[in-house]
Formats: sequence, C-alpha cells, structure tokens
Amino acid sequence: MDHFLYRDGVLHAEDVSIEEIAAEVGTPFYVYSSATLKRHIGLFNEALDWADHLVCFAVKSNSNLAVLKLLGEMGAGMDVVSGGEYRRAIAAGVPGERIVFSGVGKTRDEMRLALTNGIRQFNLESEPEMRVLSEVAGELGVVAPVTVRVNPDVDAKTHAKISTGKSENKFGIPIARAREVYAEIASLPGLKAVGIDVHIGSQLTELQPFREAYEKVAELTEALREDGHDITRLDLGGGLGIPYERSNEAPPLPIEYGQMVKETVGHLGCEIEIEPGRLVSGNAGIMVTSVIYVKEGEGQDFLIVDAAMNDLVRPAMYEAHHDIIPVVETAPGEEKSRYDIVGPICETGDTFAKGRDLDSLKPDDLIAFRSAGAYGAVMASEYNSRPLIPEVLVMGDQYAVIRARPTYEEMLGRDTIPEWL
Ligand code: LLP
Repeated sequence: MDHFLYRDGVLHAEDVSIEEIAAEVGTPFYVYSSATLKRHIGLFNEALDWADHLVCFAVKSNSNLAVLKLLGEMGAGMDVVSGGEYRRAIAAGVPGERIVFSGVGKTRDEMRLALTNGIRQFNLESEPEMRVLSEVAGELGVVAPVTVRVNPDVDAKTHAKISTGKSENKFGIPIARAREVYAEIASLPGLKAVGIDVHIGSQLTELQPFREAYEKVAELTEALREDGHDITRLDLGGGLGIPYERSNEAPPLPIEYGQMVKETVGHLGCEIEIEPGRLVSGNAGIMVTSVIYVKEGEGQDFLIVDAAMNDLVRPAMYEAHHDIIPVVETAPGEEKSRYDIVGPICETGDTFAKGRDLDSLKPDDLIAFRSAGAYGAVMASEYNSRPLIPEVLVMGDQYAVIRARPTYEEMLGRDTIPEWL
C-alpha cells in the first residue's frame, strides 16, 4: 500500500496533486510520500517486535537528506557503504551508534571517518580489510566493533546483477571459513566481533533463499559461541522484494519475513538488525514525466517522454518493469493505445517499456513511473548533459523540493578549461 492515489481523476501524493507539483517544479521529477516511508519502517518494526532489533535503512536506495532525516527521526538506523553515505546519515542527524558500515572496499579514510565520529559496527567483507581495520583502529586507540559478512552460497533467485550470496559473487567471506576468520579477529587488538552479517541479494520475491541463509547463520552462531565468541547481534541484510508489476506480483510481506526470521534465528536470543532499502523507499516514490511527442512508427507507436535512462536507469540496466500510469485518469471505457515508452537519449537502450497499453496520450500529458523511490534518483547521471532531476517530498498537504534541479550554469560550471588550452 502506498499514498499515491487518484482524487477527482488526478493522481495525488497524499493530499497534494501531482499536476500542481509539475506546474511548479517542471518535469521530470521524483516525488516521495513521507506517509509511505514511515509506514514501511513501521511494518518492519512490527514484524520484528518479538526481538530487540534495529531497522537500518539501506541508504544506497535513496540517500536524500530529507528522507534520511524523516526515517532517522522514527528511530531507524542506517546501512551505509561509503564515506559519502556515512556523511549523509550523520548530516541527517542519525547518531553513529545507529549506523552500520557495509561494502567490500572500505578505505582507511572511510574507516577513520566512522571510527572518529561513531559507528555501530563494520560489516567486514574480507580478511585484508579486517587486518587494515584493526590497524586503523589501533592507530586511533579504539576498538572497532565488527561482524563478518558471510557468504552462505545460496541462490537468491533474483536478477544476476543484484544477486550477492553465491560463492562466485564478490561479497563476504565463505561461510565455511568463518570460524578461522573469527579466531583471527579475536587475536587482533583493534577488533571486537559482536555478531554475524549476511546479505544475499536484492528484490527477492520468495522467503526460501532467506530461510536457507539464516539457517546457516544460526548454525554458525552456535559454532562460534562454542569457540568462545560472544555473538550477540545478527545483521540479516536487506533484499525483501516489492511488487513492481502490481497486477501479477505479490512478494512476501514484512510480517511474513519477520515470522521466518523468528523461526530461523529467534531461539538464539540475538539482537536483530536488518538493512532494507527497496521495501522502505521503492513504493514511496514515483517519477513524473511529460510526453514530448507521440511518434507513429512502423508497427508500434513511441511515446517520447522528457525523462530518460539517465534519470531512471533500472529498465535499461536490469530490464526492470515499472508500472506506468497517467497523472490524469481518463473516463473508464476510453480506448487504450499501445506504446513503446522511450526517452530522448541517443541509445536504443533508452527504453522504459515496450508495448504498454495506456490511455491515449498527447504532448504535455503527464505520466508517472511507480516504484521509483528506490534506486531511482540515486542512480541518476547527467548522461547527454541532462541535469539531474529534482526530488520533492510530500507530507500531508505540504510539499517541498528536497533537491533542486541544477541550472545549466551550475552543471557547466563544474568543468574547468585549463589555461594552457
Ligand atoms: N544491504 C546490503 C549489504 C546491500 O548490498 C543492499 C543492496 C541492501 C542492504 C539493500 O537491499 P534492498 O533491501 O534494497 O534490496 N540497483 C539495484 C539494486 C542493488 C542493490 C544493492 N545492494 C536495483 O535497482 O535493483
């Protein structure tokens, strides 16, 4: 459930008309609903209410400071994967003790940044990283709390580009090696193991792969405890999928996920952390674009819109489906037209959807891409020298631009021409 609904035939974000935002901000733009964001954090809190837990929002899915502030104020933690994301979480007012640091390539600078400003834990992904972190912590005279991200060799049954828990993926340490690695951690002066971390992939639409991974983590917890390690925390990663195609997808709900977590690891008495991104922010956002031209091709009609693959890359990159709806509903029974929906970029890959049946549209009509709040704005680029598009946050009947559209001067002003040219 989200808060993008038609009212008097016009799509609204909560109580604000999308037409009104478009008139003020211009298209294309992203708009997020605070009520949906809050609702999703609430669903996870409810699903894990049987345990001491922390929902750490995966900042990579939507890193706008206003979004992070809203979630942080609800008590959410943050999962960050770079110094930039760490700085965003801190700037949004999230205390270091609610920030977990993931990622395979943490640099010494990033480690120092987090150790100096506060961190809940580092999720270690390799032995070289583990040794470097111990050194950096030693130099600062502190002890870094860590988990090891184990790779359970489980097939997440999702798109290959976003699957992370198979042994051939670059992530984590093979679970079979974990006991050895925890033994080394115990011997390193700068580290203190506090738990275990696992994340097997994104947009999972079944619980079974999670279940398999978490069962392996439960076994490992017991083995490590036998080895004398104090395992008190399990970070179970993110990855729960959302219905991108509402007419025929129904992925498991957070409450079902929480139940499965309880069944697999509940008996261990650990504090539970999860790192959901997409489920929190995905359906809390839409991207609104307007039609530039309707072009009749041979065999198909093209709807050429003012958003492109640089603004929302998921269809081009992962063949991802986004539901596309008109901002102004036409009367029921109106004839549909079938379109290929494309952007203005000079690549065939700049295709959002093929053969979609939509109400007949004309230039300047507005359409909205649903489920665009996660991995939308954050993955945008300026390819074809198209400035990044604005982001808007709605709360009830108020809205605000939370990232402005840069001017062309700002975009060009970032380049410099050397004086010797
Ligand atoms: N934790 C870790 C360690 C991750 O690598 C990820 C996502 C998450 C949590 C959050 O996963 P989520 O709950 O959002 O599924 N750009 C791709 C998705 C990449 C996901 C990368 N890691 C897309 O647009 O589908």
